[in-house]
Amino acid sequence: MVIKYAEFVVSNSDVSKCPKSRLPEYAFIGRSNVGKSSLINMLTNRKSLAKTSGKPGKTQLINHFLINKNWHLVDLPGYGYARVSKSSKKVFQKFITQYFSFREQLVTAFVLVDIRHNPQPIDLEFMQWLGENGIPFSIIFTKADKLKPKAIENHINDYKNIMLETWEDMPNYFITSSTKNIGQDELLNYIDGLNEN
Ligand code: GTP
Ligand code: MG
Repeated sequence: MVIKYAEFVVSNSDVSKCPKSRLPEYAFIGRSNVGKSSLINMLTNRKSLAKTSGKPGKTQLINHFLINKNWHLVDLPGYGYARVSKSSKKVFQKFITQYFSFREQLVTAFVLVDIRHNPQPIDLEFMQWLGENGIPFSIIFTKADKLKPKAIENHINDYKNIMLETWEDMPNYFITSSTKNIGQDELLNYIDGLNEN
């Protein structure tokens, strides 16, 4: 799939105010600073469609982007950012869980994890919660430019072994780098296939 059209639609903290259209949508979620917004820019070949920052906590709302006029990409705030105050953390958690619980248009969540780190409890808990709530998800390993190919392979194997302690199978996964454009075709083709179903 080639992205010919990508446009910001709306930001809000209330799932009931998300676009009413029934277009299929795909949401990016993961820890603050893992690279969710950068990945959206990489996929759409746009430098600053989604706002990015070296400091965690940049994305604070549910952001909808209309792609090729027939599906949505959704950029979400990160979880697990310690410097966000406790009360705003609760609000985040609430609207993130409401988004995933009530957004019927959501086809799949993409859970982003930094390829350099072993599975973190917060990510495992979030994937567990998605599973328990019947929300399909894939894992996206980000920042693959930071490791050599052999290290990537070893790391994925370690990750798989830990995941298989909880899950019957390793969830579907993608290896990406937003700075080196790795994984763009695979992800877009995957979304294309789901859009056709
Ligand atoms: P929040 O909105 O704060 O939750 O963060 P986010 O997950 O949207 O991360 P964002 O895309 O803003 O990127 C965070 C930092 O990681 C920025 O400094 C990016 O330049 C950097 N970054 C993102 N993706 C990559 C990547 O593939 N490779 C490298 N080397 N850096 C990346
Ligand atoms: Mg962001």
